Amino acid sequence: MSEKRASGVARILIDEAAIQSKVKELAADLDALYGDDVPLLVGVLTGAVAFMTDLMRAMTIPINVDFMAVSSYGAATKSSGVVRILKDLNDEIEGRRIIVVEDIVDSGLTLQYLLDNLQRRNPQDIRVVALLKKEKPGVIEVQVDAVGFTIPDEFVVGYGLDYAEAYRNLPYVAILDPSAIRPE
Ligand code: IMP
Ligand code: MG
Repeated sequence: MSEKRASGVARILIDEAAIQSKVKELAADLDALYGDDVPLLVGVLTGAVAFMTDLMRAMTIPINVDFMAVSSYGAATKSSGVVRILKDLNDEIEGRRIIVVEDIVDSGLTLQYLLDNLQRRNPQDIRVVALLKKEKPGVIEVQVDAVGFTIPDEFVVGYGLDYAEAYRNLPYVAILDPSAIRPE
């Protein structure tokens, strides 16, 4: 990895071409599902920005876009289970058809919190699209309607995902070299 932005990357798990073709598939499925309805895509900041911007441009039906920011784990690589809304939606969503766009479902805690919160606002329905889902035993069952890639239970970066706010601008999903991870 000679690029400066890739310093510390051990190997690429999902390359750019694979991501882009999967995003097109997911977008085509959404196009077909909503027909004449105008869904509101809700991106979860900051990790979902890369996925969100590619997904929305691959969709050909009219859509609206908004973002929410919830607290994440800072520099740590494990979920604390503590979720706080840092930025809420700009508009009410009563009666709207919502598509939650997530970067990754790990423990599922963040998504579960978000879904409970959005559900209380009485949307018509909520669909969850996640680019990545970790395969791990014993986690909570959370609603995920479409997943781009199921990945092993390893910490990944790139395509929006960070480690200590770095690596979000990699165009692929990668695994870090252990030497790039600071002890907690
Ligand atoms: P969860 O609550 O454990 O499902 O994870 C919530 C958030 O943590 C995700 O939306 C990501 O932003 C972040 N996250 C989880 N796993 C990873 C990872 O492997 N790399 C980078 N961020 C992650
Ligand atoms: Mg996230």
